[in-house]
Amino acid sequence: MLVLLAGIFVVHIATVIMLFVSTIANVWVVSDTGIASVGLWKNCTDGNCDGTLLYANEDALKAVQAFMILSIIFSVISLVVFVFQLFTMEKGNRFFLSGATMLVCWLCIMVGVSIYTHHYADGYGTSYLKSHHGYSFILTWICFCFSFIIGILYLVLRKK
Ligand SMILES: *[C@@H]1O[C@H](CO)[C@@H](O)[C@H](O)[C@H]1NC(C)=O
Repeated sequence: MLVLLAGIFVVHIATVIMLFVSTIANVWVVSDTGIASVGLWKNCTDGNCDGTLLYANEDALKAVQAFMILSIIFSVISLVVFVFQLFTMEKGNRFFLSGATMLVCWLCIMVGVSIYTHHYADGYGTSYLKSHHGYSFILTWICFCFSFIIGILYLVLRKK
């Protein structure tokens, strides 16, 4: 039981870190040449991120940014609530509040990454360059799975 809680705690922290990294790093789509990438904020070439992002002012991108930031906020709140409940909650109760908060985080990731996938994930831009998904994009989908599992486990587990 304690091992399971410790395991979830570690996975939860990993999820928060991955969400941070994927939101901040501009590596959602990478050109096949490998030196150029775009993310939620910038268009980078050769480590230089001053390039203009073609769709920087589109509402869809703003929505993705907002939902990714919300997902970070909710995952952190859920972690804090979990730690708090670990010390204050009576034995036998479920970690309902942290579970519910984590599922809200999961929903935010789902909406954000779905919009991104629908609008932007299949191209580096209007250029002829071929491209593939970068690690931010992949990390975000991993976080999508993890946050769901963590949320459900919080709802199911009782404090011993
Ligand atoms: C990023 O910049 C490159 C080079 O200027 C351009 O070809 C590409 O279309 C841009 N991509 C996006 C998504 O803004």
